Amino acid sequence: MNSWNAVSEDVRLGENVRLSKFINLYGCEIGDDTKIGAFVEIQKNASVGRCCKISSHSFICEGVQIEDNVFIGHGVMFINDPYPRATNADGSLQTEADWTLQRTVIARGASIGSNATILSNVKVGENAIVGAGSVVTKDVPPNAVVAGNPARLLRFMRESGEEKMPDTVPFLDLVTPHVELEQALVNVFRQGLHTGGFVGGPAVENFERDFATFCQTSHAIAVGSGTDALRFAIMACGIEVGDVVLTVPNTFIATAEAISQARAIPEFIDVDERTYNMSVQMLERYLERQCVQNSAGKLISLRSGRPVTAIVPVHLYGQMADMDPILSLAAKYGLTVIEDACQAHGAEYFSKKHGRWMRAGSMGRAAAFSFYPGKNLGACGEGGAVTTSDPVVAERSKTLRNHGQVRKYVHNFEGYNGRLDAIQAAFLHTKLPYLEEWNKKRRDRAAEYNRLLAQDQALGIPYEPSWSRAVYHLYVVRTDNRNGMVDFLKTKGIGTGIHYPIPLHMQKAYAFLNYTRDDFPVTLRLADEIISLPMFPQLTAQQQAKVVYEIQSFTLSSLDAPAELGINPSVQVGLTA
Ligand SMILES: Cc1ncc(COP(=O)(O)O)c(C=O)c1O
Repeated sequence: MNSWNAVSEDVRLGENVRLSKFINLYGCEIGDDTKIGAFVEIQKNASVGRCCKISSHSFICEGVQIEDNVFIGHGVMFINDPYPRATNADGSLQTEADWTLQRTVIARGASIGSNATILSNVKVGENAIVGAGSVVTKDVPPNAVVAGNPARLLRFMRESGEEKMPDTVPFLDLVTPHVELEQALVNVFRQGLHTGGFVGGPAVENFERDFATFCQTSHAIAVGSGTDALRFAIMACGIEVGDVVLTVPNTFIATAEAISQARAIPEFIDVDERTYNMSVQMLERYLERQCVQNSAGKLISLRSGRPVTAIVPVHLYGQMADMDPILSLAAKYGLTVIEDACQAHGAEYFSKKHGRWMRAGSMGRAAAFSFYPGKNLGACGEGGAVTTSDPVVAERSKTLRNHGQVRKYVHNFEGYNGRLDAIQAAFLHTKLPYLEEWNKKRRDRAAEYNRLLAQDQALGIPYEPSWSRAVYHLYVVRTDNRNGMVDFLKTKGIGTGIHYPIPLHMQKAYAFLNYTRDDFPVTLRLADEIISLPMFPQLTAQQQAKVVYEIQSFTLSSLDAPAELGINPSVQVGLTA
């Protein structure tokens, strides 16, 4: 303490800290080489890092953490209590004990313009810039430039200069990966034209060999679509006409269509509340309570009176179903398991039974993949594949895709025209070497979404159990006001999807199964709450930051504010304690 400054003894001052006159510091910590201007107050339990510049008249209250190399302009105000009051209900003056202290972080290298107000419980990211006079109501992403009241994202700063905030973010970008591979894909097409090899031949065989290796199976049989693949897999596994095949109601219709088209009967098992995949508990309950064993030892569904012979777990959104217990229940009841891996190319499951990570498509007796263009591995058109390590299933699938033909013009049974075009096989073969890298990028983008969205209490982020390595075909979050969020994001130029808005048991197409709306409560709830955010390997950090920023804007604007106080609901109420 001297005649100009009030610096209490409990202040921890670093080396070479430069203090101007008329400052008031107590209980705080100031790092080396930091400069503090005149009329600055820094309260207890606040910290300022090294090499910071705190300009005159700024007020840094308890709970504020300023990291190294931060610039704070003149007259910057921090807030640390979201709902301060002068008095308690009994009229006595409030003390510290009555305040709810919330922390604020200004990350390394950030700059806060003069006269800005930073509300509590926000983080201003590394190197971000907050414009003069802004009111910061929520987290500012790293490198972002924000301004206004409430502060809005304007653009991003990069080492190469300023980058504009993207105006739109597509749900899916199918152009960039194809432009990146344009030369190779055009060459493949030219090769097809020059050889006339349009059906079958080496292009198909090469892709089948390498896709089987990718899936850790002995065989891959390339077919016309994922729906073909699933239908052929079910038929090739010997599922008979009128058999019951169990699957989930929270899936694309093709799963149930393939079962019906194989002339079996779909029956549904509800999904798990956290993974959104088949609930093992519900499957067990169904097998124990909704089936009986007939005199011949067959498992009979009480609902349809038909024998239950197979399970089709769906690896939805790119995450595998909990396969170990599903397979052991199947073994106990003598059922065949056929994986719907149409959304899960490269997804992995840690099997305790086998003591290793196993790939989607390698765990059931057979599996189906789709190469629809938006899939993790997509054709430039339609395509699909059956994978299996069972030579009988492989041979039957090959015959089914080719009119039941065993030798030229010799047909042992009716099959289908279900072959994959050779040009599509060659496109897929060109793209296959990139699949691991694309999946890794999807996982990285998902981790970044998880990190950025974790604080949003109104949002449920995806759950990845320790036994799963998901490949995020879709990144799906949950929120109570799903439709509001979809509409809001649309106005901000952000594409979203809903997978799926009407559960299969409520579709007209399956009215004949006589389910009621409430038969599958988890699926029913999900259908109202899920929203798929933009997800593709080429999603940029800026695009992701825009998506997260707008979601946070939506969450804040949904908070109720007392209209009679005339408070802008998008601004957090805050005065300094
Ligand atoms: C879970 C699931 N099953 C099956 C299919 C059918 O695949 P395809 O569209 O290639 O016939 C899809 C495709 O979207 C799917 O997502």
